[in-house]
Order: sequence, then structure tokens, then C-alpha cells
Amino acid sequence: MDKKLDMILVLDFGSQYTQLIARRIRDLNVFSEILPWDISSERIKDLNPKGIILSGGPESVTVSNTPRVPKIVFDLEIPILGICYGMQTLAEQFGGQVTSSKAKEFGHAEMILEGPSILFEGFSLGSSLDVWMSHGDHVSALPDKFSIVASTDSAQIAAMQHINKPIFALQFHPEVTHTKEGKAILQNFLFKVCNCSAQWKIENLIEQKIINIKEQVGDKKVLLGLSGGVDSSVTAMLLDRAIGKNLICVFIDNGLLRKNEARDVEKLFREKMDLNLHFVDAKKLFYRHLKGESDPEQKRKIIGRTFIDIFDLEASKLKDEIKFLAQGTIYPDVIESSESESKEAKVIKSHHNVGGLPADMKMELVEPLRDLFKDEVREMGSELGLPLEMLNRHPFPGPGLGVRILGEINEKKVTILQNADAIFIEELIKANLYDQVSQAFCAYLPIKSVGVVGDERRYADVIAVRAVETIDFMTATWAKLPYEFLAQVSNRIVNEVEEISRVVYDISSKPPATIEWE
Ligand code: XMP
Repeated sequence: MDKKLDMILVLDFGSQYTQLIARRIRDLNVFSEILPWDISSERIKDLNPKGIILSGGPESVTVSNTPRVPKIVFDLEIPILGICYGMQTLAEQFGGQVTSSKAKEFGHAEMILEGPSILFEGFSLGSSLDVWMSHGDHVSALPDKFSIVASTDSAQIAAMQHINKPIFALQFHPEVTHTKEGKAILQNFLFKVCNCSAQWKIENLIEQKIINIKEQVGDKKVLLGLSGGVDSSVTAMLLDRAIGKNLICVFIDNGLLRKNEARDVEKLFREKMDLNLHFVDAKKLFYRHLKGESDPEQKRKIIGRTFIDIFDLEASKLKDEIKFLAQGTIYPDVIESSESESKEAKVIKSHHNVGGLPADMKMELVEPLRDLFKDEVREMGSELGLPLEMLNRHPFPGPGLGVRILGEINEKKVTILQNADAIFIEELIKANLYDQVSQAFCAYLPIKSVGVVGDERRYADVIAVRAVETIDFMTATWAKLPYEFLAQVSNRIVNEVEEISRVVYDISSKPPATIEWE
């Protein structure tokens, strides 16, 4: 990393929000790095941070042998900001008192500013701020030489600071968006307290990732399962920049992809990037394995298992050569297991997109996007030259059209669905509606319905058109697409896909319906 860039060190005490702290700092164009709380003094000195943030954590400082701030942090005499557990351990280490409350406080609290502080510059004394709490313990007695900056009903010491050193502590989480003024508070810490300059850019992150990959894998070979989605594509592009021909990508066409998708992905990666790409056309094998199966979960299992078998076979051809397996895991994928990086056993995640990778492949993981959020991955992809239509694509389930063809799957149904779906997506893009919905697709309903085309009676299947709006895909509402638009989509599908005689629009929200039909 460029030594000239100002950096903030985030010491991780194990909070699920630690990555969010780093992310907010990046949003303010300052470089930050997360390291476990027990990292060596030399490493901390070497980084030469402009300030240190102590994260929250799941433990209690009232229990002995729980993590503490290393002495070097204080010896450096640079600004310190403790958050939640970070605050409590600061309080304890400076001689204050921390008490465990039976009632834990989670969620919104109203906080009143009690004393002047550079951290709250821009807010007047006595003003009230909406903050987000998540803690069991609280600081019950101020340490020596500290003063109270803010209080809530349940925590008298909700924010405190040292009277003559730049040491601050917050019981609430400024890094979560529910703390409305969190950004302003972090901004004050970075620019008013630490005097950082806002010079960091996404290109710096790309450079840093490339250096990290080179350090990790050296001149060894790396295998990557490419799905055509944003995460695995950005991972491929980073690895390509870092190690070139030592990256070996495997793309499996399972015959359940969108129209022309396999061809487009192959073209992009072969032509634009000259990737070392193993393209496996496994359509027939997938169809054979799926024959006769109509239960959704069984279909998912068959697709997942077939994928693993093929990937394993491809990998075994190269096994002796390859020591590393790259995955496009991003931070939301690992959020539940956010522990100190140094101690965390890295397990191969059952990857959403590829349906789980072989557990007996004793390869070390390379996961360059592990600490990034989806929009940051998109920004990185854009910087690396990934085409816009790929970057802004709606999510696509790992089992693909396998869960969008109700009941048994065969090649004919796949082609029908691909054609109908391509029309819908094309119309959405043409009408500038694609980016306004979160996910849109067609589902194939093998229900015969009567239609009349010209003078002829047609007895054919049904296509359901689905579009939803959602933030997190956990809940979703059906998109209120204009009638004229839906009419155009329906007309085109019935006219251009002759096996279809009827089109319906899905007006179910989630819950109770799910986004996919199966
Ligand atoms: P549901 O249907 O559960 O979908 O409301 C929520 C989101 O997850 C996607 N989805 C899947 N993704 N494998 C995947 O990789 C699956 O088996 C799967 N099922 C649903 C779905 O497309 C939506 O974005």
C-alpha cells in the first residue's frame, strides 16, 4: 500500500460490525485496515496509523482474560476512538468501572449531548441524536481524567473523552446507518481529530488486493469456479491482474442459464481478458441427472451435486499443480462468522452460486472480496472494466432455470423459458425499467391452457412474469409495472414463443410467497 496515504487502523475485538467501520471510513475516502486486537506492536508501529478505532466485541470486560487494548496503542500517542466493547475496555484500562447489566440494550436510543467535544462538532450542546445501541455491559464510573460527553436514559455515560488526550469512546455504534449522525461523527474523528486527508480511492483498493494476492499465492496456480455473476467475475479480473496465466478458471454450462449466457460469459473472458478458461459444456449431463425429477429440493440437490462432481473432476485433472482455490465470497456471505481473522479457521463455504464445493479439496482459499460489500464490488468491477450490463445484473439463483421451470425439466422447456425470459428482460431494458426493479424473470408453468392464434386453437403452456422490489431479498413487494408495458411483454411472448398461449403477471409479495416459484 502507498505509504503516503493516511490510514486508520481498526483493531477488531470481534464485532459483527467491524467491517462496517472500515467500510464507512472507505466511504469517506480514507484508507483503513482491520487487524485483530492482539496483533504485534511492531506491525502497528509499521503501519504508522493516523488514528486507531477499537471495535465492539461479544465479550465482557468484567470477565478476566478477555481482550484488552495493547499498550503500544497508548504509547503511540495518536487519536483513539473506542466503540462499545472498545469503550468498555478503555474505561477499564484507565481505571473506570464497567458493569454488566441484566437487561441488554439493543436498538434505537435518544442521546443528549452533555459536554463539548470535537467529535460532535456541528451539534449544539443539549441537542438530541438518534443512536443505535447493542450492548449488555456499560461504563458505570468514569475513569480518571475522562469527562462525560453524552447520555441516554439507560446509559449515563454514552460517550466520554479524555480531558487532555485525543481519546474518545462511544457506547453506541456510529458505523450503522440507524445511527443517523454516525457519518458526521466518524467524519469529525477522521478529519478534525486525526487530520486525515481524503485521498483514498477504489483504485487504491484494487492495487492493495493485487499485492495481497501476489503475497499469498506467489508463483503457484489458482483455480476459480466462474459463474458469470459479479462476484466471481470481479475475483477473476483481480486474479488475472495479479497472477495472469497462473489463474485457471472453470466455467460449467449446466444448461440452466439464461439465453446466450454461457456464450456471452465465454466470449467476454476469452476475448477481453485472455483468461486461462476451461469451458465445460455439461448441459446433457445435467438434463440426464434431472430427468424424471419434479420435486424442487431434489432438483436443487441434483444440480448442486452434479456441479460438484464436474468441478471435482476438472480440479482432479490439475490437482497436483494447484494449491489454491479462489472464491468470490463477499462480506455479507461471511457476516455471521465475523471473528478475529487471525483465529478464524477458514472453511470452504457452501457457495450460493455454485452450490457447494468439494470438501476434500485440500486447497487454501483465496478470497479477495471477503471484506467488501456488494456495491463496493460493483464499483471495483466497473474500475476493472467489467461491462455495465454484467455489473448491474439482477441476482440469478445457483440452480438457475431449474427452479423456474415448475416440475420436470427438459431441454425443450429450457429453450422456451429462455426465449420468453429474454423478451421480458429486453423489454425492461428498453423501457428503462430494468434498474428500477430488484429482480425480474419468467417462470414456466407446465399447465395447458386454451388459446386462439389466427383461426387456430392452441392448447399450450403458461409463462408467469415476475418482477419484485426489495432491498435485502428477505422481503419483497411485486413491482407495479405499467399495464401498457405488461401488455407489450405479453404480446411479444405469445407471438414469438409459439409454445406459449397465455402470460400471467405474478402479483404476490414475499412473504407469503417467495421470489422464485420453487
Ligand atoms: P426466494 O425465492 O427464497 O429467493 O424468495 C430469495 C433470493 O435468493 C435467490 N435464490 C437462490 N439462490 N440458490 C441460489 O443461489 C438457490 O437455491 C436459490 N433460491 C432462491 C432468489 O433468486 C432471490 O434472489
